Amino acid sequence: MSTPLFDPSLISSAVSSSLPAGYTLRPLRKNDYSAFLDVLRVLTTVGDIAEADWSDRYDWMAARSEEYFVLCITDDTDRVVAVGSLIVERKFLRHLGSVAHIEDIAVAKDQQGKKLGLKMIHALDDIAEKVGCYKAILDCSDKNQGFYEKCGYRLAGVQMVGSS
Ligand code: ACO
Repeated sequence: MSTPLFDPSLISSAVSSSLPAGYTLRPLRKNDYSAFLDVLRVLTTVGDIAEADWSDRYDWMAARSEEYFVLCITDDTDRVVAVGSLIVERKFLRHLGSVAHIEDIAVAKDQQGKKLGLKMIHALDDIAEKVGCYKAILDCSDKNQGFYEKCGYRLAGVQMVGSS
């Protein structure tokens, strides 16, 4: 079994125990290569990523394990069925505060509607709190606004994209 991307003790035992029987919350592992990327393809274009390039990016994130928290939900065969990321941004303001950015949430098509997305967000929220973030924020399309409201998020501000 390969080394987890971050300290697994940061994962909420309450959220873990609320998953359907046989499902597990755990950090990303290097050997999740194709399974992880396949779930991510539910969200957007991923491209053809060679295993060596995956490995380099994984090592880069693992060297920043207090900044990059990539979480997986697996089924009873250890297949990755849901993924989500939390990136910690360290600031000067708010007495050197930190903000959690929730990114790249995806649930395999055949696993949607089982509350796995909701549990993923709750587990990432819990990590954000444990590592001392004063808030967690995310960007999403209009069609997912209702999902994030169910997860306890509310609309705040406007997302802007640059021209480059
Ligand atoms: N709009 C409104 N409500 C929704 C939506 C939606 N698009 N999706 C789910 N819900 C509701 C569910 O009905 C459920 O409500 P209930 O508690 O009243 O029964 C609640 O939200 C929780 O739903 P889950 O079962 O946890 O949702 P699921 O596991 O299917 O995950 C997700 C939702 C992540 C949006 C999934 O459908 C998915 O992977 N979609 C494609 C990828 C995507 O769009 N990801 C989000 C990108 S934004 C980002 O990454 C920050």
